[in-house]
Amino acid sequence: MNKEQISQIASRFSSTQIKPANTRVKAIVDRVVLDLFNVIDDFDVTPEEFWTAVDFLGELGRSHEVALLTPGLGFDHFLDLRLDEKERAAGIAAGGTPRTIEGPLYVAGAPVCQGEARLDDGTDDKSEILFMDGRVTDTQGKPIAGALVEVWHANARGNYSYFDQTQSPFNLRRSIVTDKEGRYRFRSIVPCGYGCPPEGPTQRLLDLLGRHGQRPAHIHFFVSAPGYRQLTTQINLPGDKYLNDDFAFATREGLVPEMEHHVDGAALRKKGVDRRFATITFDFALPKSIAGVPNSLIARTRAAVAA
Ligand code: DHB
Ligand code: FE
Repeated sequence: MNKEQISQIASRFSSTQIKPANTRVKAIVDRVVLDLFNVIDDFDVTPEEFWTAVDFLGELGRSHEVALLTPGLGFDHFLDLRLDEKERAAGIAAGGTPRTIEGPLYVAGAPVCQGEARLDDGTDDKSEILFMDGRVTDTQGKPIAGALVEVWHANARGNYSYFDQTQSPFNLRRSIVTDKEGRYRFRSIVPCGYGCPPEGPTQRLLDLLGRHGQRPAHIHFFVSAPGYRQLTTQINLPGDKYLNDDFAFATREGLVPEMEHHVDGAALRKKGVDRRFATITFDFALPKSIAGVPNSLIARTRAAVAA
């Protein structure tokens, strides 16, 4: 078929309304359908291939992996780049900490702590201990007291509490309010990288694309304060094999802090710990909020548990 015929067929199907449509939804769906008709024709997609794809989408939904696949195909990072662009166009102050993808594994309702927190429940006594601290400031470096630092990360097997029901509730998840000097600090364990469920549909598609489904070790943050733009970001831990090869494309310059490892007895005693530990210092800078720029905190469905 030629493009003109395909376009005629698609518009025949799109003009069967019996009542006013939502024009935005209709315009987008019409376009997606037309583009897919063209894909089917250009690649001579067989009916068997088409129904395989339909089954795949069903399985993706049933396994709750739709939002796992989107970062793997680059959508989440693409949306970040578009938001960056809109902020630049609106003249939002440069110098803020770069955003990067939220991922699908946030859970609302984590315990709120003042100034400092311990994230791990103490059951993992093998992993390297992590002490992380820093400040929340504006883009001029002025500390923001009372900012909220929501932090979440995976355990030593790359799994997240709530989604991994073997972990205690809110393990490795806390909300920390910064002190008078804008400081936060926490103790936790050094997380391992994350891998897509090996038997799931996301990994099956990645295999067909000749790709892995691994992320470098990372720690997620939502940072917010009244009057400032909310920040969704992550830090990546240096030295990880996948640091610059993240299947979710979330690694960005400025988000890989230095991490120091401490093993000698005097350092351990000073910290009051009985095994090796790592330290990271990382500051978050937030631009002031400006009217008329799209929200940086994206409304989307998230898991939530009453604290
Ligand atoms: C995915 C997992 C993560 O831990 C994350 O931060 C981002 C994406 C995923 O499975 O797609
Ligand atoms: Fe993650």
